[in-house]
Amino acid sequence: MKIKLKVKNSDLVRFKVIDDYPDGRLIIGESNKNIPFEIKRVFFINNLLNKNAIRGLHAHKKLNQIIFCINGSFKLTLDDGTVVQKIIMNDSFYDYGIKLGPSLWHTMTEFSKNCVILIVADDFYLEDDYIRDYNEFLKFIKQKDIL
Ligand code: TYD
Repeated sequence: MKIKLKVKNSDLVRFKVIDDYPDGRLIIGESNKNIPFEIKRVFFINNLLNKNAIRGLHAHKKLNQIIFCINGSFKLTLDDGTVVQKIIMNDSFYDYGIKLGPSLWHTMTEFSKNCVILIVADDFYLEDDYIRDYNEFLKFIKQKDIL
């Protein structure tokens, strides 16, 4: 895995792999071991049939998540307010996830039809933790820099 994350509040997270080739491959994440927090919520996104779909388009105030591409491919765009990084998530990420920490604007596009995205998070769903307006996001990170 050659990718280097250039944005703030992000990281590569590696699952444990047990390869029983040709009888399958086991890919394992455990809280506070290779997943750098206690998992409170898991969700996945499938049925990405619209190739023009845009998901994400938000940042979180406190939430930590890890995003995995467990099938197919998509493009992940990360923006910390200063640096923008685009990452094509595909087969080569089978055992790697990308940590989406707080204050990181993220967008997912260019989904293959068979794409399945898995996300683990360190908290329950809280709409109050979302920043869904880009200008508000810029204001939020500026305020955090001052405090
Ligand atoms: P959202 O997080 O905006 O999706 P994405 O980032 O993939 O584009 O969520 C879409 C909708 O689903 C929104 O109405 C909130 C709801 N939702 C929940 O109810 N619980 C959850 O855990 C998540 C992630 C979303």
